[in-house]
Formats: sequence, structure tokens, C-alpha cells
Amino acid sequence: MSERIALRMVVNGVVHSAEVEPRLSLADFLREHLRLTGTHIGCEHGVCGACTILCDGATARSCLMFAVQADGHDITTIEGVASPDGVLHPLQSSLSTHHGLQCGYCTPGVVMTLLELQRERCGAAITEAELRRALAGHLCRCTGYQGMVDAALAVLNGDPSGHQSISRGAG
Ligand code: FES
Ligand code: FES
Repeated sequence: MSERIALRMVVNGVVHSAEVEPRLSLADFLREHLRLTGTHIGCEHGVCGACTILCDGATARSCLMFAVQADGHDITTIEGVASPDGVLHPLQSSLSTHHGLQCGYCTPGVVMTLLELQRERCGAAITEAELRRALAGHLCRCTGYQGMVDAALAVLNGDPSGHQSISRGAG
């Protein structure tokens, strides 16, 4: 039997302690140990972005992290994004309003990247080109990306509800 390592991390505001095999990925820990299956697994090679979570507020590929690397850190998954009473975050609402998701497999990871972007921009406007660069690490087989881009622009460029009709700036 392989060695197990104790870890303790905060996930969506809740402290979790466990003993895990050192090779267990953070994605598998979240999904299989904590049953937080909103973090999806696609490529397991750091390419598709489906497994993206926030680690201390910064995006990370949870398929490329070992669970033990998250020891002592603050993790946010898609389950921690909506408010406790179930009201969606404006970015989530906007993705729905603008048809920015279809099967939804890529969506949790996309939301994490958009949350990081929103925090980094601190209200500064973003161009469509900048947004598309930020989303380049997410593979979506369904949407063609335009609805996703429209949804994000609506929120990041000033309408917290995400319901604003957007005009696409140059860039
Ligand atoms: S499953 Fe992690 S990047 Fe694809
Ligand atoms: S909505 Fe299906 S992969 Fe993006």
C-alpha cells in the first residue's frame, strides 16, 4: 500500500482535511473525495481548460496539480461561485442569457478564467481581442465562442447584470 499524505485545504470556504496518495490529482480529489463534480476533466494534459479552478484566486489546471500541492491553499470551484441562496453570479447569468454554453462541459473552467479576469481588470474595459486571448486556453466544441464572448463583454464592460446588448469594439 502506498504512502498517504495528510492535507488540509479550504474549498469554497469550507475546511477539508484528508489523507491521500501523493499522486492523486487535485481534480480527482475535488471530484471523487469531495464530490464536487462541477470541475470537469477533459484532456488531463493541461490543454482543454475544463478542469480550471482558482487557487488563492489565480486560475490553475487542477488536472496538473497534485492534491497535496493544494495543502494550505484556498480553492474555489464552480460550486462556490453562485451565492449560497443559489443566485447565479452575473457572469453565469450572462452566459445563459447570451447562449454562451450548450453542453456546458467547458463552462465551469471558462467561468473561473472570467472571474480571474474580472478581478484583474478592476472595472477597466476590455476589447473583444483581449477577451479572446484570455479565453484561448479553453476548448469549446459547441458554441463557436461568440456567445461566450458576448456574455463576458456584457459583464466585464460595465453591465453587472450581463443583460446589456453589446456592441463589439475594434481590437
Ligand atoms: S483536463 Fe485539465 S486542462 Fe484538460
Ligand atoms: S458548451 Fe459544450 S464544450 Fe463548451
